[in-house]
Amino acid sequence: MIPPKHVAIIMDGNGRWGIKNKNSRNLGHKAGLKTVETIIRSSVKNNIKFLTLYAFSTENWKRPKLEIKFLMNLLETFLIEKINNLVNQGISLKVIGDLKKFPKKIQDQLINAQNKTKKNTKLKLILALNYGSKNELVHAFKILKKKRISVNEFNISNNLFTKNIPDPDFLIRTGNTHRLSNFLLWQLAYTELFFEKKLWPDFNNNDYNRILRNFRKIQRNFGRIK
Ligand code: IPE
Ligand code: IPE
Ligand code: MG
Repeated sequence: MIPPKHVAIIMDGNGRWGIKNKNSRNLGHKAGLKTVETIIRSSVKNNIKFLTLYAFSTENWKRPKLEIKFLMNLLETFLIEKINNLVNQGISLKVIGDLKKFPKKIQDQLINAQNKTKKNTKLKLILALNYGSKNELVHAFKILKKKRISVNEFNISNNLFTKNIPDPDFLIRTGNTHRLSNFLLWQLAYTELFFEKKLWPDFNNNDYNRILRNFRKIQRNFGRIK
């Protein structure tokens, strides 16, 4: 069994958790941040090299302005308060998605955080922000067209935001829905999919370890017989 290198997560269910437990969707997002820290730590422990977290989709702009504002503030706090922590844990940060729509201040903080952590090699933490797989593919095709590069699988992969990052070995989606919501459609072609009933703030280390154990039992064929 080849150990997993890359785990991708659709962190869904924050809003429902917030309504159920705190009568506020936003407090669900805040609670979800604790799970993010737990899973980052656990990934380092399990020797995972790439962890991609879906934090904000290209479609999430359709949400109420106040919820979007809360999420931006949460991201900003995370970047300010946790960056030294990431550096100390040997984690490097990378963002995928179209950042132009984000407030300038956050864009600068993200650039700064990526620069500050770029030499770290323990784990690459990839945050998907204003990320949409269709947007990413269109972006890649436009580059190929502009530079007159031929269209083939290698050149497409090489012009995605995930360039040089191996495809995810497994994907976890919490929140009890079975869909991909425009996340890494190209990169997930041969990824093992785990859909979890639990809402993201309730997801814990034991759940993560259970999925890791189950992943290790799977025989991956990639089209072959054995
Ligand atoms: C996922 O949780 C986090 C983001 C999309 C930012 P949701 O906010 O989608 O939570 P539910 O699915 O409404 O419960
Ligand atoms: C997917 O969750 C996006 C993130 C977790 C950031 P959504 O809650 O936006 O997905 P849909 O709308 O239910 O498909
Ligand atoms: Mg949701």
